[in-house]
Amino acid sequence: MGQSANTYLTLLVLLLSLGCAQRSDTDRKRCGHCDLQLSCNCSYGGFIHVPLVPERALSLDLSFNNITEVWADDLSSHMSLRALSLHGNRLAVIHLSAFDSLWSLEKLDLSDNRLTDINHKWFTKLGALQQLNLLDNPYSCLGSPPAFQSLVRLRRLDFGGPALVELRRGDLSGVTELEELTIHANNLERYESGALAAMWPLGRVTLRLHEPFLNNTALASAVLADVSYPNTPLVLEDLHLVGNESLQPFKETAKRRIRSSLTLRNLNMSDEAVVDLLVVIDGVPLTFISIEDLTLTGEGRWERASWTDHRGIDEFFLQNLVVLDVFKFVSLLQHRFLLHYPRKVSVIHSQVFVIPCPTAHLLVNMQYLDLSNNLLTDLTVTEMLCNGDGTQKDLRVLNISGNILKSVSTINRLVAKLSKLTHLDISRNGYSSMPQDCSWPRTLRYLNMSGAKLTTITSCLPHNSGGKSVRSEQQWSQKLLSVPTFSESAPRMSETLPCFFQSNTLNMFGNSDLQSYRRLQSLQVGQNKFVCSCDFVDFLQSAFKGAGDVHITDRTESYICDSPLYLQGEPVGQVSLSIVECHQVLFVSVICGVALCVALLLCILLWRLHAFWYLKMTWAWIKAKTGAEALLSFDAFVSYSERDASWVENFLVPELEEPRENAEDSSNPRSPRSLTLCLHKRDFLPGYWIMDNIMSAMERSRRTIFILSQNFVESDWCRYELDFSHFWLFDGNAGGEAAILILLEPLSKDDIPKRFCKLRKLMSSTTYLEWPQEEERSGEFWKNLREALRMEDD
Ligand SMILES: *[C@@H]1O[C@H](CO)[C@@H](O)[C@H](O)[C@H]1NC(C)=O
Ligand SMILES: *[C@@H]1O[C@H](CO)[C@@H](O)[C@H](O)[C@H]1NC(C)=O
Ligand SMILES: *[C@@H]1O[C@H](CO)[C@@H](O)[C@H](O)[C@H]1NC(C)=O
Ligand SMILES: *[C@@H]1O[C@H](CO)[C@@H](O)[C@H](O)[C@H]1NC(C)=O
Ligand SMILES: *[C@@H]1O[C@H](CO)[C@@H](O)[C@H](O)[C@H]1NC(C)=O
Ligand SMILES: *[C@@H]1O[C@H](CO)[C@@H](O)[C@H](O)[C@H]1NC(C)=O
Ligand SMILES: *[C@@H]1O[C@H](CO)[C@@H](O)[C@H](O)[C@H]1NC(C)=O
Repeated sequence: MGQSANTYLTLLVLLLSLGCAQRSDTDRKRCGHCDLQLSCNCSYGGFIHVPLVPERALSLDLSFNNITEVWADDLSSHMSLRALSLHGNRLAVIHLSAFDSLWSLEKLDLSDNRLTDINHKWFTKLGALQQLNLLDNPYSCLGSPPAFQSLVRLRRLDFGGPALVELRRGDLSGVTELEELTIHANNLERYESGALAAMWPLGRVTLRLHEPFLNNTALASAVLADVSYPNTPLVLEDLHLVGNESLQPFKETAKRRIRSSLTLRNLNMSDEAVVDLLVVIDGVPLTFISIEDLTLTGEGRWERASWTDHRGIDEFFLQNLVVLDVFKFVSLLQHRFLLHYPRKVSVIHSQVFVIPCPTAHLLVNMQYLDLSNNLLTDLTVTEMLCNGDGTQKDLRVLNISGNILKSVSTINRLVAKLSKLTHLDISRNGYSSMPQDCSWPRTLRYLNMSGAKLTTITSCLPHNSGGKSVRSEQQWSQKLLSVPTFSESAPRMSETLPCFFQSNTLNMFGNSDLQSYRRLQSLQVGQNKFVCSCDFVDFLQSAFKGAGDVHITDRTESYICDSPLYLQGEPVGQVSLSIVECHQVLFVSVICGVALCVALLLCILLWRLHAFWYLKMTWAWIKAKTGAEALLSFDAFVSYSERDASWVENFLVPELEEPRENAEDSSNPRSPRSLTLCLHKRDFLPGYWIMDNIMSAMERSRRTIFILSQNFVESDWCRYELDFSHFWLFDGNAGGEAAILILLEPLSKDDIPKRFCKLRKLMSSTTYLEWPQEEERSGEFWKNLREALRMEDD
């Protein structure tokens, strides 16, 4: 019985939870932007409800959506969530138990929403919470009971906003040991003294107290009194310090002997306020003053404070200064009392265009000078560094990055005598070239020349003085004089000096340079226009992998190929070049070798096949054909082997050229008339190429008589003549009977070797005359021959 009730209960719970899940699931969209670290970034997703994300998510960024409400079960399954951001939504309602299951939550950001009150119940289960941001919500007070009481591990708390008007004692009870406290209370009207006092120890405190500083200095004083401790850095923002009253709250700070640092951010100051501030902090052991986003309305007339003592100030940091009346601004020469002590001075992005040498002389303790992002030129830097006379003898770090300097050699000359200089940052200036040789201080360990327009690196690079003997130094100098190339200078480059040349137009790394780069230990040359040669790619890729001695210390993604064109935009680390590109010489040699071999083989083959002869013959034939129409001056050209010459001379020539007078039938109109024969021995023009002779002989003869015998078959020339007649035979006007074959000895087609296929073909297509072995039948033979020769005469 009890068991079945239990089952029912379980079922009911299951159904209910299913019902709930369905209800919320239908409204709730899913956000799948989670990475492998289970961190889900659903920022800018247009969500109006908390979206569904995997339950195991460790961090969930829901910033910049349109979420108006967090329901009780929206986050109930996220027991392991560590960080949750709802920044920049329209959150007005948070259910009281909405965060109850977030036991592991360490960071919660609810800033920039529409929460009109803070409820302590939200935080009761957040025992692990370390950072809570409630800034810029329209609540006017923190409410009671104290909201943060259960946040025992809280280390960083940000609250307040334009609407915050009241802070009461006990509002922050339970909050101790904060590392960082930020309060935006520009419109604070009521402050119960001691409200912030219980939080000690307190790390950095950032306060915005615009209105209180303007017209309620008592309130501002009370606030400052509660948070000022000697070792607590104090940051004050949004101040309008003009009247002589406005500096009075600092008296409280001064009274507590604040020591670590005072930072003022986003403020206006008049000369009067500056003087008052200097008076107020007279003798306070403050070591660091930082002022950012300052608008100075005065003219720099602060002499009235010249009796004050600020020898404690070690570091002075000024960024984004605007001087309204910059042309009326007086010289700082009277301000020895201010300039004498600091060792670190930064005046960044403040339109500084010159610091006169006499003023620079006052900065006697200065070891660190940062004038980055100003308007210094070669001329005014020369003035500032007193033309390189080494006045700032203690200077160790000089940062003139982001000015409008143009000459590396000027800078080099100016710092040459700064014998303690270790860091020189001259990046983001307008250099376009480097001098061939430079003498940097021997102490220099860091040189940043990134972001210029350098196209080459010369031996101007600094070298490491440590360890190298003077003698070897001189040797290198001499070598440098004679051959001032980059690779020659390599051994002068330090083995430990980091060099930074990012964002130039360098396209260096020629083959010869690489050897020298291999000696560098760390190198940053990203964002240049690299020529991705094989050596360069090979060198960098091995450096990326950590092989070799060089350590590329900037991001590998900043190495992008600029040329060759087909690699433009490719990250060097991912380029893979083919063998064709990388071993061009080898490749070309191999190709040429192969081509040569093939050509040679082809030649041999063609030679074996007598192709050249055919070619030459064709040429000769073409020449003969295109030349003037040859006159037919012979009846027949006789093609015969030398060994058959006796038969030709003794029988053929006399019989055909000198017909016998006493022919039997002289009355016969067809009586033999003398024929003219062309014999190569007799009629060939001496001095001509034999082929030309054969060619023209055949051209000028009506017929060609081939005297076939074993000898003929064995004589090559005869074969060629035959080959030619083959052309001739197919030449239109010659007809099929141009060739006459005479067999001197019985020769069957099969006796002729196969390679004389032309001859064999001719024998089967043309009737041939056989020289009779019996004397008495020769008359008939000659008659037949004459017939054949005369065939077309009629
Ligand atoms: C989430 O993405 C936005 C840009 O869409 C980015 O600004 C934000 O830093 C990212 N948040 C986290 C936690 O990475
Ligand atoms: C929030 O909603 C408003 C209007 O309802 C819209 O203009 C805005 O773009 C939305 N914001 C986001 C991040 O979706
Ligand atoms: C301070 O000035 C604001 C307006 O500038 C005014 O609303 C407020 O009442 C003043 N507070 C005091 C204490 O005078
Ligand atoms: C500084 O003064 C200008 C003009 O008087 C004013 O607009 C600006 O709000 C002031 N800044 C602060 C932080 O009070
Ligand atoms: C502020 O200046 C006025 C006159 O400009 C003077 O009467 C007053 O005493 C000064 N207050 C302080 C605290 O210096
Ligand atoms: C020089 O100043 C620039 C810009 O302010 C900064 O990025 C750089 O880190 C500084 N260099 C050194 C060596 O501090
Ligand atoms: C060198 O200077 C550039 C430009 O100011 C800067 O981005 C870079 O971080 C610097 N390099 C180092 C190693 O400080």
